[in-house]
Amino acid sequence: MSATISRLRIGVLGSGSGSNMQSILDAIEAGRLEAVLACVLSDVPDAGILERARRHGVPAFHVDPAPFRTKLDGEAEQRYIATLRQHGVDTVVLAGFMRIVKRGLLTAFPQRVLNIHPALLPSFPGLAAWQQALDHGVKITGCTVHFVDEGTDSGPIILQRCVPVKDDDTPASLHARIQVEEHLAYPEALRLLASGQLRCEGRRVLLRSNGA
Ligand code: GAR
Repeated sequence: MSATISRLRIGVLGSGSGSNMQSILDAIEAGRLEAVLACVLSDVPDAGILERARRHGVPAFHVDPAPFRTKLDGEAEQRYIATLRQHGVDTVVLAGFMRIVKRGLLTAFPQRVLNIHPALLPSFPGLAAWQQALDHGVKITGCTVHFVDEGTDSGPIILQRCVPVKDDDTPASLHARIQVEEHLAYPEALRLLASGQLRCEGRRVLLRSNGA
C-alpha cells in the first residue's frame, strides 16, 4: 500500500440517506481530511445521498444496477467503474451501499475500496446489524471501517468504535447511537489512509509513523 498519496479523490457509493457521506464532506470542508469528494453514485434513483451531494455541488448520479437485486456485477459493475474513472477517483467509499461488490470493482481499485458496517465485525455481518445485536443480547456493539474483500463484511479492519446497548433500546435508537460513532469513524479512517499511515500485514491493518 502506498504511503505517498496525500489528497484522496473519493467516490462514494450509497443507497440511503447519506449521513456518512455528509460526515466525510464535512471533514473535507472543515480541513480535517485532505481529500476531494469527486462523485457520489447511487443504485437508488431518489436516494437522499444524491440530493445531499448535489446541495454541496458534488457530481451525483443514479447509475443503473440492473439486472441484479443484491449485487453489483457484470455490465452494471462496468458502468460504476467507468463513472468512477471519469471522475478521477482513486478511493471508493461504500457508505450504506446495500449491494455486494464483486471482483471487478476490487480489481479496478486495488486495496482502495472501503466500507463502514454498523457492528463490531466479525460479529453481525450482513443486513440490519443493529437488530442482530439486539436479538443476540450483546451489551456492546459499534461500527467498523474496513477494506473490502470478496467476502461479506470480511475484509481487514481499519478501525472500530464501541457503542453501549441500553436495556430500553429499540432498533432505531441503537442504530442512531451507532451512527454518531460512524460519523467520527469514517473521516478518521480516511484521514489515516490519506496520511499514508496504514500498512496491511495479512489481515491486520497497522499504523506506522510517516516515512517508516
Ligand atoms: C449506515 O449505518 C451504514 O453503516 C449501514 O447503512 C447505514 C447508511 O446510513 N450500512 C450497512 O448496513 C451495510 N451493510 P447513511 O446513508 O445515513 O450513511
